[in-house]
Amino acid sequence: MLPGGKSHDPAPGPASGAIFEELRFRNLTVKNRIFRSNIAGRFDLYDGTGTQARINWELKFARGGVGAIISSWVPIDVRGRIVPNYAGIDRDDRIPFWRELGRRVDEHDCRYIIQLAHSGRQRDIPGFEIATALSSTGKTDSLHGFPCESATPAQLADIAGSFAAAARRAREAGLHGVEIHAANGYLFTQFLSSAINDRTDEYGGSLENRARFLLEVVAAIRGAVGDDFHLQVKISAAERHKALVPWASDGNTVEDSVRVCRWLEEAGVDAIHVSTGSAFPHPDNPAGASSNAALVKSYPIMLSSGKHGFRNYILFRTPLVNKVLEQRWRRDTEQIEGSILDDAQAIKRAVGIPVICTGGFQTASVIENAIRTGSCDAVSIGRGLVANNDLVQLFAQGHDRPPRPCTYCNKCLYNVLEHPLGCYDETRFETRDEMIAEIMSVFDGAGIVSPEQAGEGR
Ligand SMILES: Cc1cc2nc3c(=O)[nH]c(=O)nc-3n(C[C@H](O)[C@H](O)[C@H](O)COP(=O)(O)O)c2cc1C
Ligand code: SF4
Repeated sequence: MLPGGKSHDPAPGPASGAIFEELRFRNLTVKNRIFRSNIAGRFDLYDGTGTQARINWELKFARGGVGAIISSWVPIDVRGRIVPNYAGIDRDDRIPFWRELGRRVDEHDCRYIIQLAHSGRQRDIPGFEIATALSSTGKTDSLHGFPCESATPAQLADIAGSFAAAARRAREAGLHGVEIHAANGYLFTQFLSSAINDRTDEYGGSLENRARFLLEVVAAIRGAVGDDFHLQVKISAAERHKALVPWASDGNTVEDSVRVCRWLEEAGVDAIHVSTGSAFPHPDNPAGASSNAALVKSYPIMLSSGKHGFRNYILFRTPLVNKVLEQRWRRDTEQIEGSILDDAQAIKRAVGIPVICTGGFQTASVIENAIRTGSCDAVSIGRGLVANNDLVQLFAQGHDRPPRPCTYCNKCLYNVLEHPLGCYDETRFETRDEMIAEIMSVFDGAGIVSPEQAGEGR
């Protein structure tokens, strides 16, 4: 039996029901309840110029029938990026690229919501331009050890201004909405978190103070785009920090996040996208296997990143550490799908705006049940769609689950810093060559999209 109380239906037949009902937000209507979740890949130029490969990537999902795509991580400024080679939205001359991407996705009756993000101190390969990160704290992150500074109120006002300008560009590009990435350990988690935020000014201490910065950014975005443009927030409902660092404080609880979501709704946010975890990755997100063999293979790309890079590399090669990590990560595969639905439901009960839930979804009956029982209004899917770009069409044909589902092996994640984003589970393909061809297909006909090429006349 799967979470949600449903079992797989082995006999395909035409699908109906909640999945294919449109979803009306205050400022946006989406044709069905399946959102492509944020999946970041290094498809672009070092300086943040978007490429055709990214457009090709997004089109795979638009063609596959998702109602909306929530973009991968888009840095609002260089200091807030996690790795280079992600398309940015930090300058007006980025607008034509996003306009072209949105237009191509829209041709498939698919909406495009762009995720506006800032790393704070949690980064992977920050690049050479910026020496220190800005955060709620001056303490480095315990994993990589990137130097960081506690942002001053003036610096926070600058960041809020950059979020507002990025949202304004998204609107000018004709995109359908923006999502603030306030989940998974990045800048906003660093402020919201009782485990990380050690400030003594008006941005630290009580939950009200810790939420102040996020609410200021919401207000700045509303000031820039008006009240009639879709704005959603992705939040880690529970931090569950002990799952990662057993001796540390557990961080914010679902009850804390329920309060924050109520404030977000009052501030004019149109939807909440529910995730989990104090960091990324975290044993609960993306839940599934931890393969130290894969980690050791790809980790050298981060050896010079942060002061703990080399230490980590040695630790990941140490059998005992290996065992502990794999233990910590181990989840029963059957329990992964919909594993944070309870968190989503707690938030949904507290707010009047739609709630989107992420986490392992790829079974129609589980999704139907989650929507029908009021745990969420829609689901966002990352890996399930990376594995089966046409998942929604499979549901429409009556499959409860795709014939070759995502195995939650997390090899896409382990490869993503070094290799093109895609499904790396060879067991899902007839041959290794087939897998490679599928991964490399994102580069078919890919050239750089210059502002001229992407202009209106195209
Ligand atoms: C390779 C990879 C890249 C991801 N990139 C992002 C990202 O840029 N922004 C974000 O909010 N979440 C990101 N996520 C998390 C997913 O959006 C999703 O919430 C999570 O994987 C759980 O959903 P799933 O089980 O359907 O994949 C990423 C996950 C993976 C596996
Ligand atoms: S590599 Fe493929 S099967 Fe493995 S988690 Fe990623 S999408 Fe799923």
